[in-house]
Amino acid sequence: MAERFTKSMARNIYYGGSFFFFLLLLGLTFDTMLELPERDHRENITPSVANGKHLWEKNNCVGCHSLMGEGAYYAPELANVFDRRGGSNEQVFKSYLRAWMSIQPIQTPGRRKMPQFNLAPEEVDDIANFLIWTSRINDNDWPPNIEG
Ligand code: HEC
Repeated sequence: MAERFTKSMARNIYYGGSFFFFLLLLGLTFDTMLELPERDHRENITPSVANGKHLWEKNNCVGCHSLMGEGAYYAPELANVFDRRGGSNEQVFKSYLRAWMSIQPIQTPGRRKMPQFNLAPEEVDDIANFLIWTSRINDNDWPPNIEG
């Protein structure tokens, strides 16, 4: 082994390391692209689900909530709210969401508030369909508990 750490050794580590991790990045990207269609069940994106996502973005729900861990941490995670509040029953969840959206903001002192969005019942159903679709994405069971 050389006694001194030479410039050319440092260069080889730099280029070799960069090349190795670039190959790793390519491989993992390729693997992700292959896996995604199986996991996101995109064939179930109905016009209602798409409109629900649009409403979700337009009203900036993610400004307070997280969805599959992405978003803000002011309010509960919603990727699993379908299982939490609907018991995985679509009709139960839609009734719940209509009721929930209509009673905001709840005036309990000391409790975080959610705004009133004045959405039409059909719009709330679209958001419900979007959240139902999201809950069925295979995300390795994230979040790890039902309260999210
Ligand atoms: C300004 C912040 C804020 C925004 C924006 C917001 N929320 Fe909320 N949301 C909250 C808070 C805070 C709670 C918890 C309130 C409570 O427990 O009383 C909540 C709770 C909820 C719950 C109940 C969660 C549960 O576990 O029961 C649902 C469903 C929900 N929000 C949906 C939405 C949707 C859909 C939107 C967008 C149209 C939205 N929220 C936008 C703050 C917000």
